Amino acid sequence: MPSIKEILNTMEYGPAPESQKEAQAWLEQHDRTFGLFIDNGWTEAGELFASTNPADASKLADLTQATADDVDRAVAAARRAQPGWQALGGHGRAKVLYALARLLQKHARLFAVLETLDNGKTIRETRDVDLPLAARHFYYHAGWAQLQAEEFADYRAVGVVGQIVPWNFPLLMLSWKIAPALAAGNTVVFKPAEFTSLTAMLFAEICVQAGVPAGVVNIVTGDGSVGEAIVNHAGIDKLAFTGSTEVGRQIRIATAGSGKKLSLELGGKSPFIVFEDADLDAAVEGLVDSIWFNQGQVCCAGSRLLVQESVEAKFLAKLRARMDKLTLGAPLEKSIDVGALVDPIQQQRIAELVESARAEGCTVYQPACEIPAAGAWFPPTLITGASTSAAVAQAEIFGPVLVAMSFRTPPEAVQLANNTVYGLAACVWTENISLALDVAPQIKAGVVWINTANQFDAACGFGGYRESGFGREGGREGMYEYLTALSEDARPAAPVLAAAAKTKAAVPAAGGAFAIDRTAKMYIGGKQARPDGAYSRAVHGADGTFIAEVGEGSRKDIRNAVEAAQKAGGWSKATAHNRAQVLYYIAENLAARGAEFAARITAMTGASTANAEKEVQASIERLFYYAAYADKYDGLAHQPPMHGVTVALNEPVGVIGIVCPNEAPLLGLISLVAPAIALGNRVVVVPSEAHPLSATDLYQVLDTSDLPGGVVNIVTGSADELARTLATHGEIDAVWRHDGSAEGCAEVERLSAASLKRTWVGGAKGRDWYSTAQAGGRAVLAHASQVKNVWIPYGV
Ligand code: NAI
Repeated sequence: MPSIKEILNTMEYGPAPESQKEAQAWLEQHDRTFGLFIDNGWTEAGELFASTNPADASKLADLTQATADDVDRAVAAARRAQPGWQALGGHGRAKVLYALARLLQKHARLFAVLETLDNGKTIRETRDVDLPLAARHFYYHAGWAQLQAEEFADYRAVGVVGQIVPWNFPLLMLSWKIAPALAAGNTVVFKPAEFTSLTAMLFAEICVQAGVPAGVVNIVTGDGSVGEAIVNHAGIDKLAFTGSTEVGRQIRIATAGSGKKLSLELGGKSPFIVFEDADLDAAVEGLVDSIWFNQGQVCCAGSRLLVQESVEAKFLAKLRARMDKLTLGAPLEKSIDVGALVDPIQQQRIAELVESARAEGCTVYQPACEIPAAGAWFPPTLITGASTSAAVAQAEIFGPVLVAMSFRTPPEAVQLANNTVYGLAACVWTENISLALDVAPQIKAGVVWINTANQFDAACGFGGYRESGFGREGGREGMYEYLTALSEDARPAAPVLAAAAKTKAAVPAAGGAFAIDRTAKMYIGGKQARPDGAYSRAVHGADGTFIAEVGEGSRKDIRNAVEAAQKAGGWSKATAHNRAQVLYYIAENLAARGAEFAARITAMTGASTANAEKEVQASIERLFYYAAYADKYDGLAHQPPMHGVTVALNEPVGVIGIVCPNEAPLLGLISLVAPAIALGNRVVVVPSEAHPLSATDLYQVLDTSDLPGGVVNIVTGSADELARTLATHGEIDAVWRHDGSAEGCAEVERLSAASLKRTWVGGAKGRDWYSTAQAGGRAVLAHASQVKNVWIPYGV
């Protein structure tokens, strides 16, 4: 007897299209022509471009291509509105966000149909996923607005925020961007993608209904040049971008040195790992949600299937059978699984990539399905037999194309999963919870779904590792992206003692031919190492007298240091208790030699003995401070609307390159190195260029403190040159620069774009390293960590 499932699968359904009458009427009301939404009003339409329905190529409306002047007007409106919006207070803003959430729900059907018409995604998705999640985002952030004074007391709004989104989740990305920005008290200049701006136009209308004050939300339409105008506008304080890695890189370069806060949510090539003990039928369904949801035009799509060899044939057979059942066609049809692609350009890109796989001898499976004559379509596709380096295995296809590979062991699965420049998401399917929880932390990705796929919730942060970008959307971590710590405003205008920090011209070592060599070496892999170039530089005291020489670090020394740091990966897995102990021990050993360190500070900087002793004491205290945090900067357990838990883990960033300040040569270094290693990172440190001896004196302290070799590596020399090498090194995950060099910091940001490293730079401003508010706290710990959200459903 056939099972119910089999019967259901053979049932034929009659057409059940969702009506588009209201959406078309709404477009008619606007004469199918839109200006820009600035200061709560519509501008006259300008130069127009068409927005079409990708499912049948029919024109829906004309939109205005904004000019640089328009962007200027929008930024000015946002600037005018910002103080008032902030002054409205948490409750005032919460009420407006709540009203937006309610109105999104009230008009959910209209929004959903309009989104489907404009984007080509199925009504099932816009109705059941995009709209509920968008409304949820506003509800959730109404909550943060309400609690802001209490929960983010030491923070203020950043100011005017520029936000640029892609076309794959037009309204949902709008919500992800606008809700937290407004909750925090910012005002917004928002640009939807040129293919899909219509729901943003409808959203503008509900902003007015919800009582959003004029100028708080401004929406400008147009292509990438409008995005560029926003990115380059001097009146923008923060940029939030979602889109391609290529444009993300351009934005990183364009904003380098501008002081604009930046978050980037970029591409992905996410692995979907199926272990042999997984519930294979459930995994097939998860895979359908993962790669055929929104035609695979999803940054976190599970586009790389990694299946354990022992079940590969069985799983692929089930998968092909399921693919045969997928329905493709009119997206407004309620029973359709696969809708249209956003544009024929995407269709062409995808087709080219699939052809490249065919040409390389891969097997391409596509179910027989009727492709509509008009519009942009691509059938669900499975590629097998691709090499790990094939274009289809590495590039973000952004279409309904799955590339399948097999693995034998869990370590091999992890290795394949991480064999990508991206790191957005991953799925792990196994009935063995300890295997799943062992694998999840090893995958370099911002989100890991265990036995589930493509789950989102406003309470759970979302964002990438590596070239998938940085910053998080959603959760508490997402709020920080739209806030500035008050301590930043308190920073001194220029580094204290900056003038004294100028390096003196190198002179030959003093002393006669028989003088003892006083050249301090590098510290690499727990050992003292001579500089590769065999050059050194002189270090002078404040009065100009020669004190010692330090090695002149080079590119090669940095490479050696990074290699040593890479090898010290065990530190990231050490227990927090263990890391805390090592930090306490360093403090203890430093205290034992406190007088010596103080004397050195005096000799180098000319600081009084009392001040030098104060710096040593403050350094010891800072070590205690981060030792204390090592086992207290815990993650969170979220309760999203599913039967299960989402665990937000604060993971180390990896290898961090640190260029230290010249003022407070010991305290500055400790204040940066201690939080980094407390959270499990390994560091390559460039100490103060002017006063490096506090760092070189530390070698023995580190040697006697049970710090594993390679966790802290120290390379002395030119801050500019070494920072350049750190910023361009492919194996460094983040670079911090705090030596007060504005150009140097800008260069680090610019060069970091190549591999989209995270950066934390001080710019030209100084920092009071004695102040815990300015040089400590969760803001620093956030730089030293990245949040991974692991979704663990129960009982499935
Ligand atoms: P895109 O990155 O070019 O566009 C995203 C947004 O950025 C749009 O609003 C666009 O107008 C704007 N933009 C374009 N150039 C800009 C610039 N120089 N400065 C500022 N803003 C700019 O993505 P596109 O062309 O729509 O898609 C191309 C490919 O990018 C896709 O095939 C896919 O592989 C990837 N992509 C990834 C997304 C993700 O969520 N990870 C989203 C969209 C695209």
